[in-house]
Amino acid sequence: MEDIREQLLADLARARSPQEVEGVRIRYLGRKGRITLLAKGTDFSQMTAGQKREFGQQLNALKTLALEEIARATDTARSQAPRATTAGDKLDLTLPGTDHCVGCLHPISLVQMELEDIFQGMGFMVLTGPDVESEHYNFDALNIPADHPARDMQDTFWLTNGMLMRTHTSAYQVRALERFGAPLRAIFPGRCFRYEAMDASHENTFYQLEGLLVDRDISVSNLIAVMKALLSEIFHRDVVVRLRPGYFPFVEPGFELDQQCVFCGGKGCRVCGDGWIELIPCGLVHPKVLEYGGVDTAEFSGFAFGLGLTRLAMLKFGIPDIRLFNSGDIRFYEQFPAAV
Ligand code: FA5
Repeated sequence: MEDIREQLLADLARARSPQEVEGVRIRYLGRKGRITLLAKGTDFSQMTAGQKREFGQQLNALKTLALEEIARATDTARSQAPRATTAGDKLDLTLPGTDHCVGCLHPISLVQMELEDIFQGMGFMVLTGPDVESEHYNFDALNIPADHPARDMQDTFWLTNGMLMRTHTSAYQVRALERFGAPLRAIFPGRCFRYEAMDASHENTFYQLEGLLVDRDISVSNLIAVMKALLSEIFHRDVVVRLRPGYFPFVEPGFELDQQCVFCGGKGCRVCGDGWIELIPCGLVHPKVLEYGGVDTAEFSGFAFGLGLTRLAMLKFGIPDIRLFNSGDIRFYEQFPAAV
């Protein structure tokens, strides 16, 4: 009996899972278990009454010890086993699940993704230009030489090596023409930087989405058609637009495209003031820019536009202050979906 007791304890110490403990129970207390057979296989007729009593007491003590040790080993094995695989563990499907944080998409990403889809549907490539630009591509190649007053319209962060943080996505126009030539249909969304005082509608770091289409026989009516198609898709309704003259040295003629206010239908409200929202500066690409890009101006012409992506996101989601975008305030970002 002493041997059996020691082996039982050793076997239980080795058992890691509830299943293994159950195996030990069967080996010792099952129908053919060692302790069970010990009782069955003993010839009591040869024993005196005192021997029988002593044997019976020892056997009972061994059984009690075996049952207690098996119960303890089962508890230990259950607490150490992974929850899902614990034998006998009941899964309660009515309990609330564990909430996992999956993050969310930034509102500018949401608008950018939507615009990329719309433009890709119209055959435009999506290109990405560098944030750090040369003076050549940001200004000179866009017909803005060093002494041109238009440089003052875009207060610039200059780097110590003579490069700059691009002030507009137009900086990629000539790079794109050099790289792909004409005909070309491309958009290039990206971050822009200006050394500006910040307020509810001005950031020093904001997003634009540039569009450039160069082909044969391109006129202002092509520009208007693409802009109208774009805005109807974004605002999910027909929109009324108007063109006003606007000055940018890299387009001729240049325009400011206004959209009739979608909030008041053009009557005038808190958002728009006079019924129109200034949305997209644009124009026909200046021949000098095409020439910088190596395009034959006798054969090709084109239009370009520079949509303020951050401002569009404000309009679309009703965001009252541009500073929220880069605020890092998680409560702001959590209001937007994780996927589209
Ligand atoms: C330009 O940047 C021109 N490159 C646009 C262009 C492209 C004209 C192609 C013609 C042809 P502008 O400086 O107006 O233009 O900026 C364009 C848009 O960027 C503005 O309408 C506005 O929506 C946005 N924007 C400009 N400055 C800021 C700022 N500080 N904060 C937020 N958005 C800004």
